[in-house]
Amino acid sequence: MAYSSKVIDHYENPRNVGAFEKDDPTIATGMVGAPACGDVMRLQLKVNEQGIIEDARFKTYGCGSAIASSSLVTEWVKGKTLAQAQEIKNTDIAQELALPPVKIHCSILAEDAIKAAIADYQQKHGGQE
Ligand code: FES
Ligand code: FES
Repeated sequence: MAYSSKVIDHYENPRNVGAFEKDDPTIATGMVGAPACGDVMRLQLKVNEQGIIEDARFKTYGCGSAIASSSLVTEWVKGKTLAQAQEIKNTDIAQELALPPVKIHCSILAEDAIKAAIADYQQKHGGQE
């Protein structure tokens, strides 16, 4: 499998790896798995009072494309509102990273992780942003 240079860059220098304190009420956590391959991705968003994502962390147990996809989205979500982050599409991720068809599901995992984190935030905050 030949990875694109952007995938290799994110894989070798992943951005924002790690975890936030999960009891912090400003932190939203999305945890998703890919049934096809068993890869698991955890994305955390730090959301301020204005509903803007100030920071993000990820931890991904998976292939290079999944790691690159999650690293990329931690960069993309910063400074966005939750509504804007909700608009990030796996096709944008796949295009940016030049993922081959067999690796598209890795980018879907990253989109799902964003959506799961947003859902977690909304649940914790009674559906209000
Ligand atoms: Fe899961 Fe990529 S197949 S590591
Ligand atoms: Fe499954 Fe990449 S091969 S997430």
